[in-house]
Amino acid sequence: MTQDSIVRRITDFANRADPYPVYRELRRTPVLHEEEGGPYVISSYWDIEALLHDPRISSDAANLAAAGDDTLLQSEETGGLPPSFLRLDPPEHDRLRRMANSAFGPPHRPRRIDGMRGELREIVTGLIDGFGEAREVDLVDQFAYPFPVTVICRLLGVPREDEPRFRAWVDPLVASLDPETRREADEEFAKTAREARMQLGMYLAGLAEERAKEPRDDVLSDLVNGHGPDGAMTMMEVLSTSILLLIAGHETTVNLITNGMLTLLRHPDVLERLRHEPDLAPRLVEELLRYEPPVQLVPQRTCVTDIEVRGVTIPKGSRIWLVLAAGNRDPERFADPERFDPDREDIQHLGFGSGIHICFGAPLARLETQIALTELARRLENPRLVQDPPPYRENAVLRGPRHLGIAFDGIR
Ligand code: HEM
Repeated sequence: MTQDSIVRRITDFANRADPYPVYRELRRTPVLHEEEGGPYVISSYWDIEALLHDPRISSDAANLAAAGDDTLLQSEETGGLPPSFLRLDPPEHDRLRRMANSAFGPPHRPRRIDGMRGELREIVTGLIDGFGEAREVDLVDQFAYPFPVTVICRLLGVPREDEPRFRAWVDPLVASLDPETRREADEEFAKTAREARMQLGMYLAGLAEERAKEPRDDVLSDLVNGHGPDGAMTMMEVLSTSILLLIAGHETTVNLITNGMLTLLRHPDVLERLRHEPDLAPRLVEELLRYEPPVQLVPQRTCVTDIEVRGVTIPKGSRIWLVLAAGNRDPERFADPERFDPDREDIQHLGFGSGIHICFGAPLARLETQIALTELARRLENPRLVQDPPPYRENAVLRGPRHLGIAFDGIR
């Protein structure tokens, strides 16, 4: 791959603060294949949407390994843990997702997320009160990260005070999602990721064993004890599923909240509107998922047979990257796509993916972000950015600022 290849520029950290010019260029070649053995990169909305629904496209970790992307499988497989349902195809995917789903809303009681509004608001209020007398905060460390971590810990039944322990295992696993990191990964990195998954699995196994003996009102207890029609998961399946939920449950939402506040501070008229018009929040969050999606691309698909996209034959076994963030700004799909417009009527974005792997946690992520942004808009007096653009996290897949300095005059 040459230095200036487009694929390289998608993952290049230098473009992290503003990857959208690269995506514009990318869309000129809707099926881009730059070199032998490299991925087929898909960037138009309709093609991505179609491929996410196409059963010839596989999410199976074993197929990805066969396509030459080994590091991931090594880190997925280790510790004897099977891949999570994110990395499986039907029928296994569907069975495990159904079981996880019934743990989030067992038939014998209301769905967990629906009843959480008050609790979420309370956590948000506590975090904003915690700014104290400060007139400048790092929104990531002091708000956008601790909020979803607290929520997913409570939901799953993981002690919140263990966060520093699991953080050390989550970081290398999240880094291994980034194709750039995977390409440059040496055996040392692969080993670190493998060990991290194993350690996290062992830590969760301890909690799961406690729940098997003494169930509580949490998702882990319901995963272990299985109330749905499919019965209970095996312990290995419980562990893979809870690792997935723990990581997916906060590593993405932190970026939606942070990207959201950054976008609002760049559009102060919309921020002011939200302050007076909290009902704007649901539509605003959907537009954010289109305009600045926390999951920029899905690089872990392969095709199980030859397929044709726009006259290009993608041979069986090829790796496919679906660049959700490019599809979200495709002018063939959205009018004036580079404009942030919370009044957009037609907003079927790709921010949560689509098809059978569509985000499992979308209702929770939406509610968390709606409450977070509404409360920040309502309570911070005259908020402004300390640095624009802010420093970004390395990751090209899960994209968002590492820090977001915000200055303000007081707390209402
Ligand atoms: C899947 C985005 C929050 C759990 C996905 C996918 C996307 C996504 C794009 C599809 C991946 C693919 O097709 O390969 C997001 C965003 C979030 C968010 C942008 C926050 C703003 C959450 C939360 C949870 C969660 C809070 C857990 C409570 C999952 C799971 C899957 C998934 C389990 C796999 C679904 C499957 O394979 O069937 N998410 N997510 N996500 N998400 Fe989320």
